[in-house]
Amino acid sequence: MINRFMIFSGTANPALAYLIARELDSQLGNCVLKRYPDGEVSVQIRESVRHKEVFLVQPTSPPANDHLIELLALADACRRAGAARIVAVVPFFGYGRSDKRHGRREPIMARMVAEFLEVAGVDHVVTVDPHIPQIEGFFHVPMDSLTAVPTLCGALQGRLPARTVIVAPDAGRVAMANRYAQCLDAPVVVLHKRRIDGTQTEVTHMAGEVSGRPCLIVDDMISTGGTVAESIRALLAAGAQPEFILAATHGQLVANARDKLSHPAVREVLVTDSVDVHEENWPELRTVSIAPLLASALERLAADGPRGELHSKCLRRTAAQAREEI
Ligand code: R5P
Repeated sequence: MINRFMIFSGTANPALAYLIARELDSQLGNCVLKRYPDGEVSVQIRESVRHKEVFLVQPTSPPANDHLIELLALADACRRAGAARIVAVVPFFGYGRSDKRHGRREPIMARMVAEFLEVAGVDHVVTVDPHIPQIEGFFHVPMDSLTAVPTLCGALQGRLPARTVIVAPDAGRVAMANRYAQCLDAPVVVLHKRRIDGTQTEVTHMAGEVSGRPCLIVDDMISTGGTVAESIRALLAAGAQPEFILAATHGQLVANARDKLSHPAVREVLVTDSVDVHEENWPELRTVSIAPLLASALERLAADGPRGELHSKCLRRTAAQAREEI
């Protein structure tokens, strides 16, 4: 079965692609990605993909536009070379936050990305903790949304201080916080967030009791760190114990995120390797790999296995208590 598929990586996260291939007892396909002097992308697949199932591993992480174009180019190259099925493995789905218009004369970028991928020849999409699950509705082709919450909970088991509360930093993260709570057997607190601009947010309300309690703040992504920094401020103002663990599936960590998260009360920043994190000498930052999760999913896909078994297998691997509805 392993020989039936091939795995190629864009330049966004070759380390993750390598780990996925290793989990599948396979290796990365030979392709060359370069930039022309004017910045345009050059892609060359250097082995036959005819009649093969092809997995293209490429998070559309920053710089999102470059990584998206690379993924489109890889898909087009495989389609023109006669691949049987092209699966875009997009551990982090960039532009996921542009899922609706917030005002007049704005685009819906997530919908455009879905259309681009389909036009380029993608037959199936696999992603992890997209900003909203409804993104699936932008696609005509099947999309599997996996969740890294059991993986992250597995990494947190036994490390949480007593009486920790799980904090959803905004209403959109309540379902995710509930999954953590189920996994870690802790209560949930919900913050209401108002976004001021791309880097600043304001907590306007809080539902739940945090007085004297350590907090695990969970999110789908930490981008500039603004959301988490404001959450910490509001939680401390509400009397939370100055002991925070931050967990997010996608650690984009752009702009001056590190400065914002370098609060003396932050004990740990836990993210997955969905995005290639380039931070060094940051003792509080810990990364857990989602390669086993993705490899299980791709193994099932290649075998045309049922989705239910695919997801339950992932969960069994990572946290037996987790209950996931995908
Ligand atoms: C927004 O709704 C998301 O779930 C994240 O909370 C947000 O994107 C994080 O971005 P930042 O770290 O820049 O505040």
